[in-house]
Amino acid sequence: MSTSVTPSVSTTEVGLLAGSPAAAEADAVIVGLLPGEEGGHPVLAAGAEEIDAAFDGGLAALLDLAGASGKAEEVVRLPSRGAVAAQLVVGVGLGAPDGDGEDPGADQVRRASGAVARALAGSGRVVSTLGAVDLAAAAEGTLLGAYRFTAFKGDPEAGKKPVGRVEFSGVAGDGLGVLRHAVAVADAVRTARDLINTPPNALYPETFAARAKELGEAAGLDVEVLDDAALAEGGFGGVLGVGQGSARKPRLVRLSWSGGANPVRKVALVGKGITFDTGGISIKPAAGMDAMTSDMSGAAAVIATTVLAAALELPVAVTATVPMAENMPSDSAYRPGDVLTMYGGKTVEVLNTDAEGRLILADAIVRAAEDEPDYLVETSTLTGAQMVALGTRTAGIMGAPELRDRIAAHGRAVGEDAWAMPLPEHLRAELDSRVADLANVTGNRFGGMLAAGLFLREFVAEGLPWAHIDIAGPSFNTGGPWGYTPKGGTGTPIRTLLALLEDIAENG
Ligand code: BES
Ligand code: MN
Ligand code: ZN
Repeated sequence: MSTSVTPSVSTTEVGLLAGSPAAAEADAVIVGLLPGEEGGHPVLAAGAEEIDAAFDGGLAALLDLAGASGKAEEVVRLPSRGAVAAQLVVGVGLGAPDGDGEDPGADQVRRASGAVARALAGSGRVVSTLGAVDLAAAAEGTLLGAYRFTAFKGDPEAGKKPVGRVEFSGVAGDGLGVLRHAVAVADAVRTARDLINTPPNALYPETFAARAKELGEAAGLDVEVLDDAALAEGGFGGVLGVGQGSARKPRLVRLSWSGGANPVRKVALVGKGITFDTGGISIKPAAGMDAMTSDMSGAAAVIATTVLAAALELPVAVTATVPMAENMPSDSAYRPGDVLTMYGGKTVEVLNTDAEGRLILADAIVRAAEDEPDYLVETSTLTGAQMVALGTRTAGIMGAPELRDRIAAHGRAVGEDAWAMPLPEHLRAELDSRVADLANVTGNRFGGMLAAGLFLREFVAEGLPWAHIDIAGPSFNTGGPWGYTPKGGTGTPIRTLLALLEDIAENG
């Protein structure tokens, strides 16, 4: 058993192809396909012209014979028999354009690139013509789709290796700059996925904090780690209360990127770092409890985003405040009925020990606001109710309306689906407590995602624009791989947070 957190290494490289894709000595050349007219064959996407010419203009018809329809993520292989230098022509479906125009949207290109990267695992050199449609999306989708996690396989080298190298043809403009950005984003997503996929006996507060520190220091960030003694000293009653049932003691990690010489704004990020959630004394049912290894996905995302902000030298100061605890039942565990005194002094009556995320987040939100940030964005696998409301692929965004809507729009634009949700005032009274300032749950399950958001709101400093992103479903894929989303940890909402930070860098 490994008890340290082992990062995976990216084995897929991306590059640009200067010459014709028809002449490249590769294992495969990828062309994009759109669905054709009713009864007609699929239509080649931009970038495939030279390949099509090598087949005398008959490539779409040949791919049609081989079964291609152009529907999203469909992969069809055609032996080239010398028509082009690559051995295979691989058609990948983009699906019908999802916007107003005739061109596929960025996420269609990402998903197709991810699906074909997965299908071509084991290949060495591949040429993709999808860079001619949207290079950033093609590179991101390729790198995110090629990910696999083998650190805990007996032989991590066994099985098909991720595609070795993908070169994009037909690229105009600053292709290398775009590739560098995509590689930085993919590195951040891989970092988060590795952390999420590391099992809970290897990743617990102490090892998680140590890995966060390592990542932060390597990126030149300021790092602060509070251990359980320091948490007690500081009065972090939420983190301590939730963590006290586990032999693995809690931590609070803070990572800061300065924003360089002239930061435009200061942003506080907060992420839930429950390294395993049994529910505590209010214990969860056995079925599916293993998925609670992912209950630190918000933490992983904000750590990776802060490291990414530094790697890209964004002119925005970013501090991640990350509470880490394991929620266990034991003779030292906190109980339903306990009253915790949170960081900052508010008291909370614990009516359900499985509503633990909001308790560690309350401490972290109060701590984060002490830096007087311009914005506070928190993300967490907070409620099963998120999945009941929005399904497994759409995050729920709550908080100050303007920031909430801004984040939801960025999420949809980057392919991390998101939807703004309300914080209905009438639900707030249901969090009133008989003995304390506040209870951690309401008396019923209605609007569970929103009640959690209202609980968090109580800890946000007056006047601070804030948002809460519930990623219970989108953070961890318990189904089969799709598009550029593998099984297990997804890395959501790193790309949303990056888009927000880039937007803030430009527009404040
Ligand atoms: N970590 C869970 C939420 C969760 C559930 C995330 C399923 C991902 C998948 C959270 O700590 C929790 O247990 N929430 C409770 C809240 C309830 C007790 C008010 C829930 O959703 O059942
Ligand atoms: Mn829970
Ligand atoms: Zn939880």
